[in-house]
Amino acid sequence: MQYPRLLILGGTGRTGKKLIQQALERGYNVTALARDGAALADLANPELTVIQGSPSDRQCFEKTLDKGFDAVLSTLGIFQKEPGTPLADMTIDLLAALQERGPKRFIVMSSLGVGDSAGQGNLSVKFVTRFILKYVLIDKSAQEALLRESGLQWSVLRPPRLMNNDQQRPVQIWQGTNHPRPLRWQISTLDAASQMLELLENPASIKQAFQCSY
Ligand SMILES: NC(=O)c1ccc[n+]([C@@H]2O[C@H](COP(=O)([O-])OP(=O)(O)OC[C@H]3O[C@@H](n4cnc5c(N)ncnc54)[C@H](OP(=O)(O)O)[C@@H]3O)[C@@H](O)[C@H]2O)c1
Repeated sequence: MQYPRLLILGGTGRTGKKLIQQALERGYNVTALARDGAALADLANPELTVIQGSPSDRQCFEKTLDKGFDAVLSTLGIFQKEPGTPLADMTIDLLAALQERGPKRFIVMSSLGVGDSAGQGNLSVKFVTRFILKYVLIDKSAQEALLRESGLQWSVLRPPRLMNNDQQRPVQIWQGTNHPRPLRWQISTLDAASQMLELLENPASIKQAFQCSY
C-alpha cells in the first residue's frame, strides 16, 4: 500500500460513504472532512477520523491537511442547474492548498460526458448529459482543466449513472473515445468507489482520466 493515510472529501455522499467503507475494508487509515460529521456515525471505525468542517473553507482544509496524508480522494459533487462553476471554484482553493502543503496525490470523481468522454453513451445518456447535466458538466470540465494544470499527481474517474447500491459486477475501464461494447452505461456506487481506490494505487493512472461502466 503506497498511500496508507487517506483524506476523503464528499464522504457523506452516496459514493463517498461507499468509498470510506471500501477504504477501511482494504486497510487504509481514513479521515473524512465533512460539513455534517454526524452523517458518518454509522461508519464508526477505529481507523476512521471524522473532522467537522467544509472543504470549501480554505482555512479548515489547510488545517486538516496539516494532519498529514498520503493522498486525497474527492467524490464532491454539486448539481448545478444554471450557469456557474461552484465545484471548479472550490477546486481552485483545494489545489492551491494541496500544492502548498501536500499531499500531491489527488483522485477525483468527475463524470462521463467530460473531456474525451463527451458524446459517449446510449441515447438516454446523451440526452441526460446534453440537457439535464449541461451545467454540471461545464463545471466538471472546468474542474478537470484545473487538475491538468495543477502539477499534482491527479487521477480522474468518470462514471456514468451511479446506482446507489452494493452491486459488484465486472467493470469496463477505458480512455479516449473507443469504448468497449456492449456497455450498460451505469455502475453501482460501491463499484465506482472501488475503482477510485484502484486508480489510487495504480501509478499508470497518474495525470490520466478514465471512463468506467458496466
Ligand atoms: N449521481 C450520479 O448518477 C453521478 C453520475 C456521474 C458522476 N457523478 C459524480 O460522482 C460523484 C459522486 O456522486 P454522488 O451522487 O455520490 O454525490 P452526492 O451523493 O450528491 O454527494 C456529494 C457530496 O459532495 C458534498 N458537497 C456538495 N456541495 C458541497 C459544498 N458546497 N461544500 C462542501 N461539500 C459539498 C456533499 O456534502 P453534504 O453531505 O454536506 O451535502 C456530499 O458529501 C460526484 O462528483 C458526482 O458529480 C454522479
